Amino acid sequence: MAPSELLSLASLSLLLALVVQPHEAYGSTRGSFLSNDGSAAVNGICATSVTIHGYKCQEHEVKTKDGYILSMQRIPERRFEGNSNAGIKKQPILIQHGVLVDGMTWLLNSPQQNLPMILADNGFDVWIANTRGTRFCRKHVSLDSAQAEFWNWSWDELVSFDLPAVFDFVFNQTQQKIHYIGHSLGTLIGLASFSEGHQADTLKSAAFLSPIAYLSHMNTALGMVAAKAFVGEITTWFGVAEFNPKGQKASAFLKRLCNYPGVDCYDLLTAITGKNCCLNFSTVDLFIKNEPQSTATKNMVHLAQTVRDGVIAKYNYGRPDYNRMHYGEAKPPVYNISAIPRNLPIFISYGGQDALSDVKDVLLLLDSLKFHDEDKLMVQFIKDYAHADFIMGTNAKDIVYNQVLRFFKNQQ
Ligand SMILES: *[C@@H]1O[C@H](CO)[C@@H](O)[C@H](O)[C@H]1NC(C)=O
Ligand SMILES: *[C@@H]1O[C@H](CO)[C@@H](O)[C@H](O)[C@H]1NC(C)=O
Ligand SMILES: *[C@@H]1O[C@H](CO)[C@@H](O)[C@H](O)[C@H]1NC(C)=O
Ligand SMILES: *[C@@H]1O[C@H](CO)[C@@H](O)[C@H](O)[C@H]1NC(C)=O
Repeated sequence: MAPSELLSLASLSLLLALVVQPHEAYGSTRGSFLSNDGSAAVNGICATSVTIHGYKCQEHEVKTKDGYILSMQRIPERRFEGNSNAGIKKQPILIQHGVLVDGMTWLLNSPQQNLPMILADNGFDVWIANTRGTRFCRKHVSLDSAQAEFWNWSWDELVSFDLPAVFDFVFNQTQQKIHYIGHSLGTLIGLASFSEGHQADTLKSAAFLSPIAYLSHMNTALGMVAAKAFVGEITTWFGVAEFNPKGQKASAFLKRLCNYPGVDCYDLLTAITGKNCCLNFSTVDLFIKNEPQSTATKNMVHLAQTVRDGVIAKYNYGRPDYNRMHYGEAKPPVYNISAIPRNLPIFISYGGQDALSDVKDVLLLLDSLKFHDEDKLMVQFIKDYAHADFIMGTNAKDIVYNQVLRFFKNQQ
């Protein structure tokens, strides 16, 4: 494939973070090269992406309070660590990916360039989270992923169930407070969760890369049209289904959006995520082979609401009476980002070219943290970076990850 085609495909999957085909009801689908039958030990992320590089890696299963069984990977030590550090307790770090991808996206660049391995080589105990619905998280104590109920959730449930489950699991395993790193949706669920005090006893500090919180300034014509087109259709939609970005209807919907006046789909990657400066075509190729992953349609709806409404609130059922049924109020409750404990050490890194995490929206986020203890908030602005550079940029180590390391080492 030509590089431009690769980029178009990559951007398609990123675009789909914002669009949704409301009447879709796909059955259970499978990952491109793996089955979902629990063969993680053979074909999972550890085997395909970590141990091949000479790192130890453990597959774990974590059960959420609402019955989902999530897979996690742990890289417990440096490559070829040997016994010299035996018995030394390492600081655990939990890494949370964004929407429509899974934990593998962190591992696509070379070991010298990808975040989990850099953290492991610097002496951290690295835990990679995967959210419900993605390739290795399609199990549940009683539901099947072909059932509608399996997909009856939005990012509210990631806040109240997935994140607490993985935090508790890592804390129980390591008996230490945890550093958190989130990218994209992984930042939103972290911010929302910490604002509700969910991880008060297990969280040590948090790094937010390409933060998504407020979304109303998202500056791409395509993104705005996608969110609006979607919201236009929501009023008639109350179904519950898997959202499979690899499905035909998703592509058809994208084509329709590209016909809107003012929408330029010629360079999709730039149109959606902003002008990424520093991607490697080989990495983008791997990205296309492994992503995008399914999520719940309801989750996409919730994200579109966040774009439309300009507030960080719980899922809106679309009618005051439905909202009252779920929340006891006509409007969905708001997540109060200012309620994040003021002494929680926070690192935020954002890009000047990021079209999803627009600078104006990041400034709103920073404003909601304006009473945060000054010496506990570290902010990095990278003029040339766009959304995908933070996970796949070939120079992300020098520019971002070394700052993250420095931030964590300051908390020791
Ligand atoms: C989805 O969950 C809500 C409660 O949050 C419930 O009212 C609704 O009936 C569920 N729908 C399906 C299809 O499971
Ligand atoms: C905590 O860890 C212990 C030992 O590893 C295990 O037996 C126990 O079930 C765990 N508890 C939870 C809640 O995960
Ligand atoms: C891009 O990826 C390929 C394959 O992993 C690698 O050989 C090459 O060195 C990478 N280029 C850069 C600039 O990192
Ligand atoms: C949000 O939290 C802050 C800090 O706890 C508090 O001062 C403020 O009143 C809260 N705002 C709302 C709308 O509850």
